Amino acid sequence: MQHHLSFLILVNLALVCSLKAQTGAAQLIPKPVSCQEQTGVFEIHTSVHVFAEKEWLSSAQLLAQELKLSVSKSKGKASILLLKSPELPAAGYALNITPQGITISASDEAGSIHGLFTLLQLRALQANSNQIPCASIKDYPRFSYRGMHLDVSRNFFPVSFIKKYIDLMALYKFNTFHWHLTDSPGWRLQIDKYPLLSAQAAFRTHGSWTEWSKNGSRFSQEGAAEAYGGYYSKVDAKEIVRYAAQRGITVIPEIEIPGHSYEVLAVYPEFSCTGKPYQHHEFCIGNPNTLPFLTDILSEVLAIFPSEYIHIGGDEAGTSSWKNCPKCQALKKEKNLADEHELQSYLIKQLEAFLKSKGRKLIGWDEIINGGLPPDATVMSWRGEAGAITAAQQGHDVVMTPGETYLDAYQSNPSTQPLAIGGFLPIQRVYAYEPIPAVLKENEKKHILGTQGNLWTEFMPSTDHVEYMAFPRAIAIAENAWTQKEAKNYPDFQQRLQAHYLLLQRMNVNYYRPSAFLEVKEAPAPDNSGSAITLISEIYQPEIRYTTDGSTPSSSSERYVKPFVVQGKANIQASVFKNGVPLGKITSYQANHHRAIGKKTIFNTLWSDSYPAQQENTLTNGVRGSFTYSDKQWLGYLKNFDVTVDMGSVQPIQEVAITFMQQKGPGVFLPAYVEILGSEDGSNFVPLKKLEHDVSPENPELLFKTFACGLEKTKARYIRIVAPNVRGGFMFTDEIVVY
Ligand code: ACM
Repeated sequence: MQHHLSFLILVNLALVCSLKAQTGAAQLIPKPVSCQEQTGVFEIHTSVHVFAEKEWLSSAQLLAQELKLSVSKSKGKASILLLKSPELPAAGYALNITPQGITISASDEAGSIHGLFTLLQLRALQANSNQIPCASIKDYPRFSYRGMHLDVSRNFFPVSFIKKYIDLMALYKFNTFHWHLTDSPGWRLQIDKYPLLSAQAAFRTHGSWTEWSKNGSRFSQEGAAEAYGGYYSKVDAKEIVRYAAQRGITVIPEIEIPGHSYEVLAVYPEFSCTGKPYQHHEFCIGNPNTLPFLTDILSEVLAIFPSEYIHIGGDEAGTSSWKNCPKCQALKKEKNLADEHELQSYLIKQLEAFLKSKGRKLIGWDEIINGGLPPDATVMSWRGEAGAITAAQQGHDVVMTPGETYLDAYQSNPSTQPLAIGGFLPIQRVYAYEPIPAVLKENEKKHILGTQGNLWTEFMPSTDHVEYMAFPRAIAIAENAWTQKEAKNYPDFQQRLQAHYLLLQRMNVNYYRPSAFLEVKEAPAPDNSGSAITLISEIYQPEIRYTTDGSTPSSSSERYVKPFVVQGKANIQASVFKNGVPLGKITSYQANHHRAIGKKTIFNTLWSDSYPAQQENTLTNGVRGSFTYSDKQWLGYLKNFDVTVDMGSVQPIQEVAITFMQQKGPGVFLPAYVEILGSEDGSNFVPLKKLEHDVSPENPELLFKTFACGLEKTKARYIRIVAPNVRGGFMFTDEIVVY
């Protein structure tokens, strides 16, 4: 009896501790360098005062305002102290919370602000926000650049929302807000010398970005009945700069040059190669008035934004207008420039010289590498890691924003989500991202300043929708940017994340709720005895149950605990269960441990270099592609697809299947049809089946079409699949399934 009782007490204690642990400092995100939870709480009540060293008064005021307390000039009267500790690392802090008082120590203001936001985050995790659990924390960031980007051109968002975005950033220790203020669908900043930028180029004729594109992409003017858009006045922008700075955040404005500038050329067409509006997206570099126009604009930008870095865009500039422009060609010749990339680089170098003369630094998207980097430019690497590696090897600083940071991608099964630009980036994949490219040498790694989440808003017409795409994934980016690599751990992050839903709810954030959808991964078992099936859920500690015979899973079906192996064809049905019932839709997956796995493939036409996936191993590796063609399992074709599988010997063939993907947005289409041919000798092929489809190329959804056929009395060694590419875009396929 005695034994049982003490056991029960222990269990209860464990329960109490684990409940308590749910809201203590151990739940902080980003995870601090060191953190000890301690017993007791600090009570916030009106007689508590905040004291700070003189230069940090603004931080003290912010903290006092958030806690509804007052600032005291005397240290003695205060029980929350912001103190200087010169020995602490840059941007680092020590936070001590005891029942008697709170001290935040730091060697610089950034550190003091970080400590303050750790305190505010801890408070925001409490059921009773006047009781802060005691803790002792020492902390400093891994990276000096921790950014969130927001595109306000595709859709305009009000100052109140920008402040909310900054509030959330600060709570998660981001220190840079990259404000994408200009792009073809709308200019968003008051510029006195060129008033049409805000009066006209900030207002388009149609609200929805896609409707606008469909209707000729025209601009209207402020006040017109149909006008959709907006801009930030100088007063607005300065207020954002001030608001962010008080929260430890630098605002980097982006002014897109020389591409993505259709809106500017719509209202100031004299800076376009043809001199006509609505024709080009690129500034005419050969026009001697273009540079003064741009530096005039930048001068006004510099007067608003004190940030050392100024982002000049530089991405995705087309070269055709320059190729056909006498002025650009004359300049190219005069300056002995090899091609249009060098022409672009010529302009960017002049912009860098201008910014340098004003004490600022240029940052641009990785295309600024093409044609030669300006001497001191910093690169924002977005097209994978390649740009980062080149730049760092050349001694340039880099900010990492590759696909793993693109929060405009789908975060769950696209068929369950509002329309997005594409991709597939669940939070676990965001978290798995490591910002320092593995190939960099020790002395090159220091050039990786940090990482940033990007939010392009083509498909985010409302602030609610921006929040939905940003959260909770931005929280994973925050930890990637702050926390030391060795301290990162996904299960631990996921456990801590559970406490942060309260914070997001209290801040009225329309965050994406973890879905019951299960991602299924299939790969041959190590001994190739079958397919190993992995089921991935973003629900915390899910109860997953499954069947492999196509029957509906119930609460008594097999419980998923680790990957399992199935043979041949298996119709897998799985679901997360809660209180005995399935959550959401049942996930169905057809596993295929088929007979072509490991067989040789002969490529009669070759894949595109842009999407080589696993090259010649892709189509018979037994691994299926996911929801995105950039997962290195989808082989991309710009040509007709024509591939032969060599089964090794003549044998009966009962079934052949191949899947293609369609995603109209980025120009991915199905083939016209799929034809299957067979041969015993590899040279004489007999047509076996021609499989048509009726999927419209206009369908905007991401969709997958499996072309499958049963074959009777067919013997072959070689199976050839021909799929014509008739739409000129990409075709993607992942596996040739043969039984
Ligand atoms: C970009 O996504 N075009 C930088």
